[in-house]
Amino acid sequence: MLLQPATDVRLRAYAPYSRFKVGAAIRATSGAVHVGCNVENVAYPEGTCAEAGAIAAMIAAGDTAIAEILVIADSPAPVPPCGGCRQKIAEFAAPDVKVTLCTTDGAQKVMSVADLLPGVFTAAHMAKA
Ligand code: THU
Repeated sequence: MLLQPATDVRLRAYAPYSRFKVGAAIRATSGAVHVGCNVENVAYPEGTCAEAGAIAAMIAAGDTAIAEILVIADSPAPVPPCGGCRQKIAEFAAPDVKVTLCTTDGAQKVMSVADLLPGVFTAAHMAKA
C-alpha cells in the first residue's frame, strides 16, 4: 500500500549532489497517505530527507499520527533513516509503529519505531516529577 507511492515520489527527489534519491510514504491514522522525497541544496546542510518531507506533508494535510511508514532507495541494503529522521518519526509515531525499509531491487526490512530509536528522547525527559 505504501510501496507504490514511495516508489513514485522517489523519482521526483532532487538529489543532484549525492545522486541518491529517497522516497518515503506515511499512512496516517486517518488512512490518508502522505509522501516525501529528499530535496538537496548546494549549501549541503540545508538539504532535507524524504522522511522529513513526508512528515511535513502529513502535518500540512492536517494529520498528526503515523500508522505506518515506508522508505525506499536504490541502496545495496534496505535504506535506514538517518538519526535525525528517527527522532522526527518518533515525534508522530507510537513505539510499535511499523517501519519498512526498502531497496528498489525488492529487498525489505521491517522494524518498529522502538527498534529504530532505542532510548528515544521524549517530553517526559523534560519533566522533573
Ligand atoms: N536521505 C534521505 O532522504 N533519507 C534517508 O533515510 C537517508 C538519507 C537522503 C539525504 C541526502 O539527500 C541523501 O539521501 C544522501 O545522504
